[in-house]
Amino acid sequence: MQVHLGNNVKTGQPVLLDTLSAINGHVQISGVTGMGKTHQIRALVTGLVQSASAAKQALRIHVFDPHGDIDLPWSSEVKFSEATPYGYNPLEINPDPDYGGVRRAIQKFIAAIQKHKAIGTKQEAVMRYLLEDLYASRGFKADDPGTWIPDDPRMIREKMAGKENRIYLAVEKEHRERFKALTKPVDNRFISGFDGDPEIMSWWVEKDYYVGDLLMWEPKSLFKTAPTIDDVVRFTERKLKAQFCGSNSAAMALLKDVNQAARVYHRRVGDLSKRGAALSEEEKAALLADLDKGKDKALSAYGSYLDAIVTGRELDDLIRYNSTEVLTSVYERFQNLRAIGIYNPVPPPFDPSKPVWRYGIKPLEIPVQRMFVDMVCARIFERAMQRGFQKDVVEVIVCDEGARYATDEDGNILNIIANEARKFGLALWVASQTPAHFTEDFLKATGTIIVLGLASADTRMAATKLAIEPEMLSRITPQKTMLVQLKNRGELRSDFQMVRLG
Ligand SMILES: Nc1ncnc2c1ncn2[C@@H]1O[C@H](COP(=O)(O)OP(=O)(O)O)[C@@H](O)[C@H]1O
Ligand SMILES: [Mg+2]
Repeated sequence: MQVHLGNNVKTGQPVLLDTLSAINGHVQISGVTGMGKTHQIRALVTGLVQSASAAKQALRIHVFDPHGDIDLPWSSEVKFSEATPYGYNPLEINPDPDYGGVRRAIQKFIAAIQKHKAIGTKQEAVMRYLLEDLYASRGFKADDPGTWIPDDPRMIREKMAGKENRIYLAVEKEHRERFKALTKPVDNRFISGFDGDPEIMSWWVEKDYYVGDLLMWEPKSLFKTAPTIDDVVRFTERKLKAQFCGSNSAAMALLKDVNQAARVYHRRVGDLSKRGAALSEEEKAALLADLDKGKDKALSAYGSYLDAIVTGRELDDLIRYNSTEVLTSVYERFQNLRAIGIYNPVPPPFDPSKPVWRYGIKPLEIPVQRMFVDMVCARIFERAMQRGFQKDVVEVIVCDEGARYATDEDGNILNIIANEARKFGLALWVASQTPAHFTEDFLKATGTIIVLGLASADTRMAATKLAIEPEMLSRITPQKTMLVQLKNRGELRSDFQMVRLG
């Protein structure tokens, strides 16, 4: 593919970005505000799409648009904000035995959280335990790659059509009455029920109502799917509740029944005495019998809980989640993460027939934009690796305000893409105010460098980074000329040339 950038000022020759002869498809555009970065991005994207279409080559361009001003033809646009339901599930597991797995998924998720706002080592340890437990509860075992493959989402969609809104719960026989009492119809509409499908056979409640006391029942996973941020929040909330009560949820619920029976008894006695009456012996005996029954049940539940502590999971839980304070702070953090919206598991409805996908991220705060760009680029890169070797560019990531996202910290995904993605046909185009924002490695790894005009304060630093005379930078006429360096394969050195914009 080829894109016409302009013509050499001296020779008049056309200057072409040729994706096959360039050392890679990466492009770096720098210029202060108003110099035309967005304009150039539009021109480059348009040029590449036209060239791909003429050559009948497949091409997908992902445009991250933090200002909301990169309008493009042939593009499908999705806005991301707290208010839109679209996002990506950060807990999806890559089933690849080499690249994927439970621990990697947890590691990536925690790294993203750290990037947003640092968390302490205790919090991090508890997060790790929680996530490992949660994955294990859904059948994903950290040590067994054979368990990393989720059920086919299409099959799940078909089987669960019309039931997407339900959470299926493991309600034991002796809890059934209690479950029914807690899930009475709301506005004459059933919010819970029993699904008699032979493959399901389970009680369910609508997602929105799975809160409060209902949390005593564990959600059942009918299918094997990665947990979502919602699942994480609920799972943590359940652990927290158990902590507060110093017991498991069954014992806790039964204790509530005892309280309830005691309240009924006292209220009845109080009502009667107000009217100068007393409880009949018969009624008193009945109420006290209820209370005793409740006490017995609670006692036996506590008894079995105490037995379980000696050997089983409950003890693990006590040790792992021993600090209510830490667990509470982790819970709050998970809730915040859910609230920022980008982790909603509803995939953005990009149109697959459009070559350009524009991610409208203006409404997100900058640290959240960073998490978002990181997450999406990591997914794109992972898929590119799995797609394998490509002769030509098949996919491009475009980042306006690139310095926000490409930092020189270890493992920064844009750095990794700059260094490793060429062979997988993935190119990275980054626009920024000055090349001084980037490391020399990053600049070295870029096949095409375009300079549209810099602030005079940045000139010297930028000139050093680009290894040119500062004087060359000052010869640029904004919006008329630009400096371009094309590094082509097999060429030892390539100079900057002044290009007249076409
Ligand atoms: N090469 C150009 N030819 C004509 N107009 C241009 C050119 N480059 C930029 N402009 C105009 O200048 C203004 C600022 O450009 P823009 O691309 O938004 O700058 P930046 O993204 O660097 O802040 C826009 O109105 C744009 O249309
Ligand atoms: Mg701009």
